[in-house]
Amino acid sequence: MLMFREGFLKPLSEIVKTHGKVCGYYLGRKPMVVIADPDILRQVMVKDFNNFTNRRFQLTTKPWKDCLLMLRNEQWKRVRSVVTPTFSAAKLKEMVPLINTATDALMNNLSVHAESGKVFDIHKCFQCFTMDVIASVAFGTNLDSQNNPDDPFVHYAQMFFAMSFFKPLVLFSILFSKIMAPLVRIIPNKRREEIDKFFISSIKKIIKQREEQPPDQRRRDFLQLILDARTGQESVSLEHFDTTKHSDELDNRSQQTPLPVSDQKISHPHIQKSSTGHLQKKTITEDEIVGQAFVFFLAGYETTSSTLGFACYLLALHPECQSKVQEEVDDFFTRHDFVDYTNVQELKYLDMAVCEALRIYPPGFRFNREVYHDCVINGQFFPKGATLELFSGFLHHDPEHWPEPKKFIPERFTPEAKANRHPFVYLPFGAGPRNCVGMRLAQLEIRMALAHLFHRFSVVSCSETKVPLDLKTFSTTAPKNGIFVKITRRNV
Ligand code: HEM
Repeated sequence: MLMFREGFLKPLSEIVKTHGKVCGYYLGRKPMVVIADPDILRQVMVKDFNNFTNRRFQLTTKPWKDCLLMLRNEQWKRVRSVVTPTFSAAKLKEMVPLINTATDALMNNLSVHAESGKVFDIHKCFQCFTMDVIASVAFGTNLDSQNNPDDPFVHYAQMFFAMSFFKPLVLFSILFSKIMAPLVRIIPNKRREEIDKFFISSIKKIIKQREEQPPDQRRRDFLQLILDARTGQESVSLEHFDTTKHSDELDNRSQQTPLPVSDQKISHPHIQKSSTGHLQKKTITEDEIVGQAFVFFLAGYETTSSTLGFACYLLALHPECQSKVQEEVDDFFTRHDFVDYTNVQELKYLDMAVCEALRIYPPGFRFNREVYHDCVINGQFFPKGATLELFSGFLHHDPEHWPEPKKFIPERFTPEAKANRHPFVYLPFGAGPRNCVGMRLAQLEIRMALAHLFHRFSVVSCSETKVPLDLKTFSTTAPKNGIFVKITRRNV
């Protein structure tokens, strides 16, 4: 535990360098198996998915335990099958106006820094932007968090993120999880209860308001899409869960169809099918709806705002790459007045730069899976109940796959370069049916914000820009002390 006081990335990398790409350590009494071998990762995340369906997580109270990250077995599969279609291409197109409103607020806030010419923390601006997007798409609330820091939503969200996971109680519950789990449930945690109460009651209030509104007057956001899913027939089978595939197909698939053969093959032993072999009718409870709104915070806030910050940091340090991004977005805006879900795909170089930022600084640099029953993969024995720590962060910097891994080279992500690489050495959003369900929302949000930003401004490094950047690597990789740069307005 002392080893990890300063974060997980460095000590885990040291363990792998010393002991190899399948190795382990004890977290308290818990054996952890670290895997940084791309073939074994493929086997665990995709090929033998049925044996590694669940994650091991500490959060055991509502609404957190109802969110997709934490759910297990049949409940996970049911909720994911309802939530996945809400991230389809057609549904994301509906989110574009909401993201645009938040992008306008971001541009106004950046303008103030451009006018002042002073150094500022651009990561903070992106945190406000991401918070605005989450408030809008998941909590049905319009916010300009940068200019309204006293808004209760901002206040409670900041309180949540300020909570330290390295407190004695949390440390104890990791070290002695069996003894502590029941205690943690009953020990009062006033601050946490206050935060949960605020968000649960805001969401429940909005749900009630929506129910009272005529359907055509309801705001179109993720909350509404999930509310609609309660009565709708939209749900998809396991083979459609992987968000790197089937992007537009999700909009046209047939629902509630008999299990496809591939799904039967990989369905989890716990997951019941009806006697006819059909998937059970999918429904989602109110508690689960609240849980999914929270997932945007837990999985979407820090990851997305850090990625925006890292991309700007790297482009500020590589002005030649920033010029290429600017040429591309300038040309884009001669053809389009707005950025939307479809035309944003034209921004190929911007996308390559973001991919490279996610390689160098992957916010989700490790994720875990539980072993359901004893198994052997590539000659390596994995005992039932062990926790596998899938350490993608190591592979992202492995010189075996990435020459000069520390260098920022967006051209590593041309289609040809990608085709020549093992697909499991780059996993910023995980892989397989349990990968990041919000991936396409994150990509849309990031590209929309950066397209506008680099069209109007240049990001410039200065003496306060830290090289190398200080990182926090506990649950995610994030800037430790902000990202300080200057910004200048462009004449376009
Ligand atoms: C750049 C931004 C993001 C990054 C880098 C990222 C990364 C990840 C990673 C690495 C995982 C684990 C995948 C695995 O275990 O195989 C994950 C899971 C997840 N992410 Fe994201 N994420 C991002 C944004 C978002 C957003 C905006 C949402 C909003 C809903 C989201 C929702 C989730 C959920 C719900 C899961 C768990 C899925 C499940 O267990 O079924 N993520 N993400």
